[in-house]
This record gives sequence, structure tokens and C-alpha cells, in this order.
Amino acid sequence: MSDTLLRPIRWLGGAEEGQIWMLDQRRLPLEAKELLIADHRGVADAIRDMAIRGAPAIGLAAAMGVVLGVREALGKPEGIWDEEVKAVLERLRSTRVTAVNLEWALRRMESAYRQHRGQSRTALLQNLLSEALAIQEEDTAANRTMGELGADLLKPGSRVLTHCNAGALATSAYGTALGVIRCGHARGLVSRVFVDETRPYLQGARLTAWELQRDGILVTLITDSMAGYFMKQGSIDCVIVGSDRIARNGDVANKIGTYSLAVLAKAHQIPFYVAAPTSTIDLETPTGDQIPIEQRSPREVTHIGSTVIAPEGIEVSHPAFDVTPAALVSAIITERGIAMPPGVDTIRSLME
Ligand code: MRU
Repeated sequence: MSDTLLRPIRWLGGAEEGQIWMLDQRRLPLEAKELLIADHRGVADAIRDMAIRGAPAIGLAAAMGVVLGVREALGKPEGIWDEEVKAVLERLRSTRVTAVNLEWALRRMESAYRQHRGQSRTALLQNLLSEALAIQEEDTAANRTMGELGADLLKPGSRVLTHCNAGALATSAYGTALGVIRCGHARGLVSRVFVDETRPYLQGARLTAWELQRDGILVTLITDSMAGYFMKQGSIDCVIVGSDRIARNGDVANKIGTYSLAVLAKAHQIPFYVAAPTSTIDLETPTGDQIPIEQRSPREVTHIGSTVIAPEGIEVSHPAFDVTPAALVSAIITERGIAMPPGVDTIRSLME
């Protein structure tokens, strides 16, 4: 696989002394600042503060963070290793609540720790690093496969609307929704991508617009409230978004504003597709009603950057995600196949 792919996070060096490199997504597109992180607290901060974001990328960052955390724990008396590792997992787990890829990656790393715990320090750390790198490689491969499968759903000349950033920056590389768009574009099927700015954090304007422009894909940036206008005009052929958690019945949690788009798409008979790896499917959560929704700081609503845009003292609500019922989703594209229509049976058959 080409290494010219945009990758937001990498492990540099060996298991014993290596560090995590990541692109600081808070600065894009104005500045491509790089971060080097050598301890798991720094990883937890980077996830919580959005230096790295997007469900699969959060999971991968946490997996690499476990390598750093276990490395630190192994410097302490053996009797407290398990307790220390538990605290590392808990610190990383508590950073963001909606994306299930975080829990999925931590469970994989915890089971690798248990499996290799009796080995030498070097072997244990090497095995943990191998597990984190396997998560990275599997995610990139899944995105490529989703791209191919999802592009089969696109008609020539497609004008696609997307929301938030489900691109390379949100994953190990290539992207989920943007992976489908990239593959569709490479096949000559995508003529233009409408990108919602995605208030309040502006992942669409800052990140998706930047990624697609870099790839030479035609982009029209719109504010979230313009989506219905363009659908009514007949300017949108389909919507493709990513997801942070998909419940057992096919309900989809994704960036706030996704539900409104799905309702609009239904009203205009426009297909609404979700692209997500199976690591985003949470069979333990029966429906979208049980998906925890992260509430973020009011400051992200009352400010744009450092500029205040609302009266001081105003009451603010800021749910960072919403849930789109499965009935509004035309298909869920995964690396194992497409659930169409999404529901308990089609989801279960993908996961068997
Ligand atoms: O708050 P963010 O930026 O982490 O939210 C990201 C999204 O909602 C993405 O659409 C989702 O994580 C899928 S990323 C492939």
C-alpha cells in the first residue's frame, strides 16, 4: 500500500523507546503542526482535546497509548502492574464516550496484555505494539474495501453531500465516507462533493474541505442549514457519512446534524449511506436510545476560534452527536459487506 497516504497518526521507533507522532487537527487547515507524544496521559489529553478525533483514529490512538502506558507500568514493582494497566485503560476510556471504536480497541489491547503478560518486558511490549499496528493496518485495509464496495452504489456523475470529517484524518488513512468518495472519484463516478461546514466544531470546513481539495476533488463548502436548499434544487444525488457507533438494530450515532440530514434526504428521496468499519458496530447496544451522547463545552458554541459570537451568560446546549434511526438509512457500508436495509438481521449477518 502506498505510503503517500495521508496518515494522522503513526508510531515512531521500537516498542521500548518509541513515541507517537500525530498531526494536530485543532490547527488545520491553517497550520499542520506535528505532536510527539511519549506517555499515555498525553494521548488521553490529545483525544479529549481533539488533537486527534474521528472514531477509528481515536481507537488507534488509544491502542498506541496503551503501549506507552504499559511501558511505564512495567517500570514499577511487578505486584502493581495489573492495577497500573487498569488505570491506564480507564484514563484512555474516559476521554470520549460516543465512539465505540475506543472501547473496541482498548478491549483488544487489554486482551493482548493478558495473553502476553508472563513474557519478558521486551516481548510483552513488542506484542502490544504489534497489536496496535495490526489495528492500524486492518483499519486502512477496511477503508479500502469499504471504498470499493461503496463506490458500487454510486451512479456516474454523482454529486455527494457529506457531513463532519470521516476521512483519512478520522481514521488510520483513506477514510470511511471519504474513502467511498475517493474510490468513486478514482472511478470517475463523483463529479462534486458538497461539504457541510459542521457547526460548531467545523470539521467539514476545516478538515474535509482541506482533505478533498488536496486530492483534487471538486468541493463546494456549504453551511449546514443550506443542505435542504441544495437537495430541493436537485443538486445532491446521495449523502454519505461516517459513524461513531452503530447499534444492533442499525441506528447510527454520528456528528450532530446527521439526523437532520437524514430526515431531509428521506423527504427528497435521496439515498442516505453510512460507511463504517465493523469496529463501529456495537452489538451490546440494542438501539440508538442506549448510545451515550457526548456533551461538549458551551464555549465551542458561543465562540468561533477566539471570537465571541453570542451574548455573555447565554444558556447553551451542545450535544456533539445525534442518532439517526435505521429506517432513515438506505445502507450501511462495512468492510464485510453492505447492510441494506440496515436492521437486526442484516447487521447480524455481517458480524457472524
Ligand atoms: O467529534 P469528532 O470530530 O470526533 O466526530 C467525528 C465524526 O462524527 C465522524 O463522522 C465519525 O467519527 C466517523 S469517522 C470515520
